[in-house]
Amino acid sequence: MFGKRPTGPQNPPRQFGGSAPRPAQGGSGGVATKPRTPAPSPASSPKPAAAEAPVIPASRTPKPKPAASAPIKAKPAAQVASIGTERSAEYYAVKTTIFNALIDTIDLGQLARLDNETARDEIRDIVTEIISIKNVAMSIAEQEQLLQDICNDVLGYGPLEPLLERDDIADIMVNGAGDVFIEVKGKVQKTNIRFRDNGQLMNICQRIVSQVGRRVDESSPICDARLADGSRVNVIAPPLALDGPTLTIRKFKKDKLKLQNLVEFGSISPEGARILEIIGACRANVLISGGTGSGKTTLLNCLTGFIGEDERVITCEDAAELQLQQPHVVRLETRPPNLEGQGQVTMRDLVKNCLRMRPERIIVGEVRGSEAFDLLQAMNTGHDGSMGTLHANSPREALSRIESMITMGGYNLPTKTIREMISGSIDVIVQAARLRDGSRKITHITEVLGMEGDVIITQDLFLYEITGEDENGDIAGRHVSTGIARPNFWERARYFGLDAQLAAALDASEA
Ligand SMILES: Nc1ncnc2c1ncn2[C@@H]1O[C@H](COP(=O)(O)OP(=O)(O)OP(=O)(O)O)[C@@H](O)[C@H]1O
Ligand SMILES: [Mg+2]
Repeated sequence: MFGKRPTGPQNPPRQFGGSAPRPAQGGSGGVATKPRTPAPSPASSPKPAAAEAPVIPASRTPKPKPAASAPIKAKPAAQVASIGTERSAEYYAVKTTIFNALIDTIDLGQLARLDNETARDEIRDIVTEIISIKNVAMSIAEQEQLLQDICNDVLGYGPLEPLLERDDIADIMVNGAGDVFIEVKGKVQKTNIRFRDNGQLMNICQRIVSQVGRRVDESSPICDARLADGSRVNVIAPPLALDGPTLTIRKFKKDKLKLQNLVEFGSISPEGARILEIIGACRANVLISGGTGSGKTTLLNCLTGFIGEDERVITCEDAAELQLQQPHVVRLETRPPNLEGQGQVTMRDLVKNCLRMRPERIIVGEVRGSEAFDLLQAMNTGHDGSMGTLHANSPREALSRIESMITMGGYNLPTKTIREMISGSIDVIVQAARLRDGSRKITHITEVLGMEGDVIITQDLFLYEITGEDENGDIAGRHVSTGIARPNFWERARYFGLDAQLAAALDASEA
């Protein structure tokens, strides 16, 4: 019922002057950014680049520039994170002997029927016996470590187990048996964890994917899967991966971050968070844009927190990651084709089907193809408050990405029509970024105002401005308002009785 309004008189859409990105003929341009009103600081003067990356005002850059001829040094690799005790080659040899003896002794079928605790006790008894029969000289601590490792190998995911237990790890990246990296607090570090060999790693990959009824081997070397705890897994095996099976796990956070946590981490200012809250509650159509691992899904999850309890929400995801708390939620997941190449259900199939399910809001985990068209149509046809994420490095790029998704989806529509559709559907683009110090920030809250000629006009409400860098390489910066007193979604906020709160949040924002 609340279609997009033409731009109100209080915010007449305007384009940049000379430097605005003009519509490149059929190219990825076609979006202009509205200059901010007023222009309180040098950082707020209209610059096309402002919409693309956090701004570093020249006057505040703390470090002197190196001489032009100075070579750029590559950053040294971070120290290896030590997890558990280091295992020697000798240890692995003993473990292999005992492991093989164990496999010869136990009935794996029966073991699988036992609960985890009983199975561990059973393995423990047999391994202790093997150690004494084979007369292996070992301290109690070494024996305990061996038992732990063997139990993890037989019952769990082997060397990955200690990493899976930790909730502070965001990603686990295994590049062949010898190289295991993790991401903690936005920083990637190498660990001392390693697999016995690529065979053991491949077995673990098989075990992971077989639990969701899939297979990974040389003939089908790419596979997506999910661990029992919800973590998202991707495996790519040789011959495609040249240095051994490569496993990437996005750990599922049991306690999903809330908007309040993002404020505490400095990812967004309290006022910015308040505005996001209002955007979520007043049923604006939102696109969350960002690079890989920049926090898009987290942000989407936060925004869904402000959906009303009485709304029927349908979520479509490739691997269910969202955790909506509302009582009336239908969760849908895509399905890859089976080994015969049949049975695939794409995101587009799901989004199209959603429209027959009387949704009030449609939430798409990640828009990456022709489903963009159906999502925009849904946004435009009474399902306002719909949201989705996509990979792009700036709000402007997000708009051109959507445009190319529709074009490449085979819709034979003139560019202008596609742009009109985009500008008529999307209200707000929220940009997330992982900065070079590993911190994640919301760098833009940008409104889509409408069209001027062939160009989509946007207007930044909030920006993250980089002010410098401390001696540890941590980035200093702040969230600033661009001084827009009446965003385009003002009327929408008023309709939902949130205008006073919106005005308060905008007033309190630092310009
Ligand atoms: N603002 C934040 N501060 C700190 N950690 C964050 C923040 N936002 C997200 N994270 C963490 O970063 C990791 C990646 O987040 P998320 O899955 O939301 O990224 P994404 O952009 O959706 O990634 P992908 O592109 O792989 O889908 C998660 O472990 C999440 O908990
Ligand atoms: Mg994601």
